[in-house]
Amino acid sequence: MSAVPQRVEHQMTDKGYVPVYTTSVIEQPWASYTPTDHVTWAALYARQQALLPGRASQVFLDNLVRLGLGADAIPKFDEINPMLRRATGWELVGVEGLLPELTFFEHLANRRFPVTWWIRKPEQIDYLAEPDLFHDLFGHVPLLLEPVFADYMQAYGQGGLRAHGLGPVALSQLTRLYWYTVEFGLIREAAGLRIYGAGILSSKGESIHCLESSAPNRIGFDLTRIMRTRYRIDSYQKTYFVIDGYRQLMEATAADFAPIYTDLAENESFPAGAVLATDTLLNRGTGEGWTADGDV
Ligand SMILES: [Fe+2]
Repeated sequence: MSAVPQRVEHQMTDKGYVPVYTTSVIEQPWASYTPTDHVTWAALYARQQALLPGRASQVFLDNLVRLGLGADAIPKFDEINPMLRRATGWELVGVEGLLPELTFFEHLANRRFPVTWWIRKPEQIDYLAEPDLFHDLFGHVPLLLEPVFADYMQAYGQGGLRAHGLGPVALSQLTRLYWYTVEFGLIREAAGLRIYGAGILSSKGESIHCLESSAPNRIGFDLTRIMRTRYRIDSYQKTYFVIDGYRQLMEATAADFAPIYTDLAENESFPAGAVLATDTLLNRGTGEGWTADGDV
């Protein structure tokens, strides 16, 4: 992957000119949000707030309350940071959007979580192909208050810095881990199966689909299995991996991955919808609605 942001074509926004290729941290331009931006935030927030009790991890729901994110107006990063720093030593930094991997890993390794400063347009309320402020802030930040998960995020960044020196195969394996945990992970809690992945938590459709649809596979967390599993970014997931607790993530990723990368480099990867004989299978998906074209 080249060392430039992926979303060059989106750098022109309704806030005016946004510099292309920048990877620097920027001050959240809070005063420049329009009334429409705040209404978009409020609409997304209200919708997920109504949907997520009983679906999201209880830790997420509790921390959403603790964070005190405003439901009616876009929150200010500066008002969230003191509490986040006190709780787990993390802080939010404003960015233009998706970052090159190395820059992203450096932030995580230093307990800085990059948050896209702009929010989607009203017509994008149901789907956006890239992270915006709602995804980054609502989806990711509540779990940064959870100490074990907060440590996992930093460990992931540190692992990314190591992987970066090992080449693109190692990086793609590591990226799958982030995808299937931080973005699209499910967790088994006392009350049942719950969501902790930010890609799901910020999406109305997938919040329902991942738990209630019979289409996807739901498979127990398995580090090397995940690192061999391809994914697609343009549809609901064909497979969700389920952890038993946040500590399981930390424990699985405590070791240096270098020997794992070497092993995996000699093995082929699995399609996103594959079920293996060695899987701890919670539900075998029916595959209904899966697109076969362009699968990864
Ligand atoms: Fe994300």
